[in-house]
Amino acid sequence: MRIVLLGAPGAGKGTQAELIVSEYEVTHISTGDILRKAVKDGTELGRTAEAYMTKGELVPDEVVIGIAAERIGLPDCVNGFLLDGFPRTVAQAEALDKALTNKLDVVLSLDVDENEVIRRLGSRRVCQGCGRIYVAEDVTGDCPACGGKLIIRADDQPEAIKRRLQVYRDQTEPLVSYYRNAGILKTVQAVGDIEDVFERVKTVLKDVS
Ligand code: AP5
Repeated sequence: MRIVLLGAPGAGKGTQAELIVSEYEVTHISTGDILRKAVKDGTELGRTAEAYMTKGELVPDEVVIGIAAERIGLPDCVNGFLLDGFPRTVAQAEALDKALTNKLDVVLSLDVDENEVIRRLGSRRVCQGCGRIYVAEDVTGDCPACGGKLIIRADDQPEAIKRRLQVYRDQTEPLVSYYRNAGILKTVQAVGDIEDVFERVKTVLKDVS
């Protein structure tokens, strides 16, 4: 299956992606994770991306499109992939359409209202070691899975959150219509228990596979 996860910052894309890849044989591709790793490794890409990411801006299309196209071309994507955080602009979606030999099967749009995503991002903790995502109130100390240090993401500061939401509305939300017009958009109500949201995702994917 070739899946795109669409949704506002904090909608739960990364959380649902972890569950989807463990249930279905697809490779998880998160452009956010790729860029954060580049920042952590201090590569040239990381230095370029960091300035945009910390402010809550999008990294330029010409940078991200190349990264995503290269990643999708690797052998582990032959049996399917889950794109999380890409595409994020109409230009990226058009580039993706051109790059794919086999078309996307489904775009899952995670629907959550803005007050809820602001609340979620304010209490998100991420493991520096394995990248697992947690809610601050649910964990004490280090990562329960690997013992890594739990940190607050650099772009989970109030000003950056505000900007990311604005950028989402202006540049990414148009993709909802883009994929609706393509006939592959499925909307999932992404509020409530994480497992309940995943059940809704599975119901949609059952009709696709
Ligand atoms: P990216 O990492 O993709 O961030 P994002 O889209 O802003 O999304 P988030 O990772 O913040 O949220 P999420 O939807 O994954 O939610 P999560 O599951 O963590 O991108 C970061 C930056 O990289 C961008 O701003 C940009 O600069 C750059 N970038 C990346 N891709 C790019 C591209 N294609 N083009 C240009 N630039 C790009 O959940 C959030 C919290 O809520 C967690 O604490 C979680 O535990 C909790 N939670 C999840 N589900 C629920 C639930 N059902 N109920 C209660 N809490 C929940």
